[in-house]
Amino acid sequence: MTNQNAGIIGMGHAYPEGILTNADLEKIVETSDEWITTRTGIKQRRKARADEYTSQFGSLAAKQAVERAGIDVTDIELVVCATTTPDQIMPSTGALIQAQIGAVNAAGMDVFAACSGFLYGLTMVESMIRTGQIKYALVIGAEVLTKYVDYTDRGTCVIFGDGAGAAVLGPVAEGKGILATKIRSDGRYAEQLYSPGGGTKLGTTHKTIDNGDHFFKMKGNELFKIAVRSMADISAEMVVKAGYTVDDIDMVVPHQANQRITDAVASRLGVPEEKVYSNIAQMGNTSSASIPIALDECIQSGKIKEGSLVLLTAFGGGVTWGGTVIRF
Ligand code: ACO
Repeated sequence: MTNQNAGIIGMGHAYPEGILTNADLEKIVETSDEWITTRTGIKQRRKARADEYTSQFGSLAAKQAVERAGIDVTDIELVVCATTTPDQIMPSTGALIQAQIGAVNAAGMDVFAACSGFLYGLTMVESMIRTGQIKYALVIGAEVLTKYVDYTDRGTCVIFGDGAGAAVLGPVAEGKGILATKIRSDGRYAEQLYSPGGGTKLGTTHKTIDNGDHFFKMKGNELFKIAVRSMADISAEMVVKAGYTVDDIDMVVPHQANQRITDAVASRLGVPEEKVYSNIAQMGNTSSASIPIALDECIQSGKIKEGSLVLLTAFGGGVTWGGTVIRF
């Protein structure tokens, strides 16, 4: 069996032009800029128009990632789209993106792991490259969450935003790329963050629509505690598995769920603030897209460069969580 290291060789991201500020939300629901800023760190989020949808942003991000990777799109053998907000139930958004970008030699598929989806995709693809099954793959996190948000529910509508990020994974030299990665879930907490309508359990009926069963429901406060513990524990475990200590990490790029969650995870891990990336003030929580968008911003701004040791960690509905250590 081959043992080929797999790493990120190109990234891209995209988001809608539309911006929804805290001041805009103050006009829609009983909230305030002060409450949202203090409790979440969010000042604005991106919001798709009614005629914009998930695969469009995923494709834009994917095309940029392929271009930066310097490969031909026809070299891509797998397109994994992590999303909680697919264009439609069938076919997969991965297949739709595959067609939109012209990845004619690839298989397309979706991963449903809410905010942890990008790390789920990375983990799967890493093992396929390592064992020599494939050479190049795209892992995309793409969401239009604002279409699943109930703008009468102030506990959820202030958090979520739209966007997409994409990474091309391919073979890299020994000692580089994904050094340790792990994904977890605990379905006993499924109803802490879920969208009950539209599936085979409740279906889509006038009643489910009237009840708003198609919207996200979240017990934010309970999730908060599990999120902090899960991300800190799996991060510490992956750093050790990669053969390093937390002090060796150059940059932590966590899922942008809530600034207070990020701060609490960093403090539990003992990582100083300047090594923890945050764009939540501008982007809000974009679920599976948040890590690849943030990671690409770090690469473009030079915060992450050749040789950087980076820790990624995520937590989301399911509940799901994960941790990944990468040497760039
Ligand atoms: N504006 C003003 N007041 C509000 C708002 C709002 N937007 N939302 C809630 N409140 C009120 C509540 O009604 C409550 O009032 P009460 O004390 O009179 O009952 C009070 O503020 C406190 O509510 P909490 O829910 O306890 O507030 P909390 O500090 O926990 O913040 C939040 C809520 C922002 C949702 C936070 O819990 C959070 O971010 N949780 C984690 C979310 C998360 O990580 N989700 C998983 C990843 S996302 C994914 O997988 C797609």
